[in-house]
Amino acid sequence: MSGLFITGTDTDVGKTVVSAGLALALRARGVDVGVMKPFATGGVRRDGRLVSLDALYLQAAAGCDDDASLVTPLCLEEPLAPAIAARRAGVDVDLSAIGRAFRAVQSRHDFVIVEGVGGVAVPVKDDVVVGDLRGVFPLPMWVVARPDLGTINHTALTVEHARARGWDVTGIVLNGVDDESAGVAEATNPGVIEDMTQVPIVAVVPRLPAISVDLLAMDGLGEAFEAAAIDGVIESLRVGS
Ligand SMILES: Nc1ncnc2c1ncn2[C@@H]1O[C@H](COP(=O)(O)OP(=O)(O)OP(=O)(O)O)[C@@H](O)[C@H]1O
Ligand SMILES: [Mg+2]
Repeated sequence: MSGLFITGTDTDVGKTVVSAGLALALRARGVDVGVMKPFATGGVRRDGRLVSLDALYLQAAAGCDDDASLVTPLCLEEPLAPAIAARRAGVDVDLSAIGRAFRAVQSRHDFVIVEGVGGVAVPVKDDVVVGDLRGVFPLPMWVVARPDLGTINHTALTVEHARARGWDVTGIVLNGVDDESAGVAEATNPGVIEDMTQVPIVAVVPRLPAISVDLLAMDGLGEAFEAAAIDGVIESLRVGS
């Protein structure tokens, strides 16, 4: 069984887009991919049910139709950190149940992509942050980060936080490079981040104007992710981790 836990340096940094791009690239190689967004907040009402647009996007990319109870075992309406949204909704965050959902998804697929929420220090319940979930999701971790000025600090702190809690951080993805505006920071950040963290930059993904998580638009995302990934990364995921 293999898979990845995808965290980010921030909310909106591209965790869903990168997870979906990876799912498409693996699927194109014949891998049966499962997905989870286990702590979904900012859920929207569809046919009387709360759904996570992130989860719908990931499922469309992976081509998997697992039940929402497995893909989003916790789905809350307010767009807040899970611990806060849960407290305000009077919901108990049951990590054992979320772990059971993860194992069920894992048993149904060859490779599981779990999208975290926000970044590693985001509270998911009282006294528990995302970085503390290594026991619930015993997977290697990738970090999605911005490509521009400021990302060295956020990325180094994220890797340090995760490692201190036992995660094996095996890749960093710089997402959303805009060739028009990219300058010295974008050119030098990958090397500096690799030196500081000793984690490989596994992909540098360009800004792709045609894609949108909320609109379920992903034309060309798999190919773009594939082109952005360093040689051998996607293949190594199938056999490694
Ligand atoms: N490479 C890209 N090119 C164009 N648009 C992008 C790219 N990456 C992300 N986006 C857009 O930026 C927004 C944020 O991306 P995404 O939803 O993947 O972030 P996230 O880290 O998953 O956010 P959240 O913390 O809410 O889960 C989305 O609207 C998405 O469509
Ligand atoms: Mg997301």
